[in-house]
Amino acid sequence: MSDSKLKVVVCRDLGPDVMPLLLNNPRLDVVVWPHNSACERKWLLENARGASGILVMLSEKVDEELLNAAGPKLRVVSTMSVGYEHADLKALLTRGVRFGYTPDVLTDAVADLSVMLALMAGRNTKETTEAWPNFVWSPFAFCGPQLSSTPTSPKRTAGFIGFGRIAQATFARLVPFGFQHCLYTGNAKTAPDPAADAALAAKYGVKEVRRVELDELARESDAVFVLAPGGPATYHIVDEQFLRQMKKTAVLVNTSRGTLVDSDALAKALHEGWLYGAGIDVVEGEPQVGLDHPLIKAPRCVVLPHIGSATNETRLGMATLTVNNLLGGVFGEEMPAELGT
Ligand code: DGY
Repeated sequence: MSDSKLKVVVCRDLGPDVMPLLLNNPRLDVVVWPHNSACERKWLLENARGASGILVMLSEKVDEELLNAAGPKLRVVSTMSVGYEHADLKALLTRGVRFGYTPDVLTDAVADLSVMLALMAGRNTKETTEAWPNFVWSPFAFCGPQLSSTPTSPKRTAGFIGFGRIAQATFARLVPFGFQHCLYTGNAKTAPDPAADAALAAKYGVKEVRRVELDELARESDAVFVLAPGGPATYHIVDEQFLRQMKKTAVLVNTSRGTLVDSDALAKALHEGWLYGAGIDVVEGEPQVGLDHPLIKAPRCVVLPHIGSATNETRLGMATLTVNNLLGGVFGEEMPAELGT
């Protein structure tokens, strides 16, 4: 490597539309993990030495060990994710290493998928997609609760555990389904703000947007969306106590992190009918999820392999933003999405 070039380590090939932004930059020496699989830790630690920038996925832990391996030249770590529980922010801050992530670009894709999972959970998608060839039609086979409101059951309430950008985009999509009530749990560190809630209700043209305690959210919601960040503060926030309080006709959707939902408790709840169904994009233990996972085996539970942001447009947007964050950090310029700014 020539001394004048800055080394960047890239943990996944980002494809022909994005990689040239790095590979064609004459000021960079680009080292790319050469396989289409999660980057091996040993390879990363060895190659990080002397790097000015590291581009990671959710699968790479950004911790003291990695930062020490990289050494004092490191200026930036850029993750291709909106979540950042895999990064030790304190360790980054202490060393003055900047951190880039990908908010906003994936909001619509994840909101779309959240609504899709609510529909799938209520419409027996797991069972119906496995129904052929031995299926005999009968009037009430596979009937589940209707997500949209009906003349005989007009009230629909959405409950959000976490009410950030993706949750609000999800609620906006539910309004035309007849959801006039929106309940959410807030961050304990911030005070309730009824005026802001009223402004949101007016924005969406609905009867109610209201911050509530978890128990009320469980009891009142027809569809519960888990959309808070992962980490110790939200670990198993959906537990047996929560699930036992849900309506028998309600569905639960998790598109944030698997750790927020107690898998064994949810499997038990589905087997025993405490709620109707679940749509899950993220599971505890991923990516090592076998067919013996309690949620894979649970009835009326659709389990997807963490594809919330998996649209062409969104992944391209995320990859481009991740690279632009890396470039900004490496060259000491503005980063389009730097955490904490
Ligand atoms: C993220 O970016 O954190 C998402 O979970 C990836 O789809």
